[in-house]
Amino acid sequence: MFQLLLLCLACAALSWAELTPTTRIVEPPLRVDLQPPEEYQNLPTRNVNTLWITMPTDHFDPQNPDTFKMRFMINEQFFGGDGSPIFIMVGGEWTIATGWLLTGNMFEMARENNGYLVYTEHRYYGQTLPYEEFTAETLRFLNVDQALADLAYFIHEMKKQPRFANSKVILYGGSYAGNMALWFKQRYPHLVEGVVASSGPIKGQVDFTGYLETVHDAFLSEGGQQCINIIKQGIDDTMAAMQSESGRRQMESAYRLCGPLDYDHPYELGYFSGLISWTFSSSVQTARPGNLLAICNAFTTDFFGVTPMQKIGGYVAFTRQLNPTSCWGLSYDAYVDNYRNPSALTMNSKAWYYQTCTEYGYYQTAPRIGTAFDSLIYLSVDFYVDLCKQVFDPRFDEAFVRDAVDRVNLIFGGLEPSVNNTINIHGIVDPWHALGVHDRDLSETSPTITVPRASHCFDMQSWLTTDTILMTQAQQRARRLVADWLRP
Ligand SMILES: *[C@@H]1O[C@H](CO)[C@@H](O)[C@H](O)[C@H]1NC(C)=O
Repeated sequence: MFQLLLLCLACAALSWAELTPTTRIVEPPLRVDLQPPEEYQNLPTRNVNTLWITMPTDHFDPQNPDTFKMRFMINEQFFGGDGSPIFIMVGGEWTIATGWLLTGNMFEMARENNGYLVYTEHRYYGQTLPYEEFTAETLRFLNVDQALADLAYFIHEMKKQPRFANSKVILYGGSYAGNMALWFKQRYPHLVEGVVASSGPIKGQVDFTGYLETVHDAFLSEGGQQCINIIKQGIDDTMAAMQSESGRRQMESAYRLCGPLDYDHPYELGYFSGLISWTFSSSVQTARPGNLLAICNAFTTDFFGVTPMQKIGGYVAFTRQLNPTSCWGLSYDAYVDNYRNPSALTMNSKAWYYQTCTEYGYYQTAPRIGTAFDSLIYLSVDFYVDLCKQVFDPRFDEAFVRDAVDRVNLIFGGLEPSVNNTINIHGIVDPWHALGVHDRDLSETSPTITVPRASHCFDMQSWLTTDTILMTQAQQRARRLVADWLRP
């Protein structure tokens, strides 16, 4: 932190002309990249093997003969032989890596129950690609119905091996993959004994104001009213500054923009508003106890800047690691192009954006109840839906997206799913909990465990020194319940 502080003091001394534009695209935290702790990421190991299985591209059309290769990983180190249980980490909208088969709460469950560990990759993500190019046409087979059928087919194939014929299967999933685990139990109850669904936003919603409302609440509860006042003042001042020429220059300097925005272009202002709110959201979504307070403490000093607006601009640059010699070259057109013509690195983002347009919405729009983020009015449904239209198909307008989300809520039951043996875990500071069931059990056999101060998918990791007792107890309770289900 101190090193960065020094760098930042140096950057203040640089003159404007010396700054080089960074055209790095900032993406909304619509997509969660659920990775294990860094030390376990992509760790090469003799215990984990990567395999492939042939999948029908369309599970619901027997006349379609197309197939693709689905990637999965296994770790047999705890497997107790014939009939011992299978634990499947459900892959979501990201590239799978070895880490979740080497650490975390599911890994502990396998250790305690002599389990066989598996990690499946979701179709259209990572290396599991039915098509090389993503267009509205080739993406037709990207939906959760197909992805759940992939899992069903996968489990069925596994159980053809004699050693697994009598094995009970447990699914563990987080975020969208948490939805998948829960929905799988609802749709294919004969294939799994039970599931753990972590932080699943099981209700689709187009205009998801609750997300930034929770970000506000998280900073309020962890950092106090003074912190919220600074954030609100900084954001309000930013929006007010856009009203005059001199204000614009101050704003551009506070945020280290390379030049003026297109102030007549609501979507460019939406993208700029996203740079601000998505940075706060990302801090909250991954927060461990103490993290948000540290940010708030820095706001009370001149660490990020002097005026409230400069503090927000400095916080964004610091959190996103903007090089001290760089400025933000923000452009809505470049943002759109990032999705239209994705690189290998942004293919996952394009696939997930497609799923938001055609299944979930989840658009994190400005709240309207007096939060610190209310004045970011350009973060509108229009702004998010414009990407659906521009990247995929002009027909993907707001009415289309609303119908698509209604369909998902209809077929999976929204906040009223019907399941047994489902452990439903949420964290109170996780902005996604607003779209999950967090205030009641799902059924007699399906407890909801909602944990104060906990963030997105907190339970999936191994024990951390920053964990509260309630976090640890939630993990233990899940492990005990799963062990109960597996008892002969
Ligand atoms: C859950 O289990 C109870 C008791 O066996 C049963 O009555 C109920 O139908 C089950 N619900 C589902 C969704 O399977």
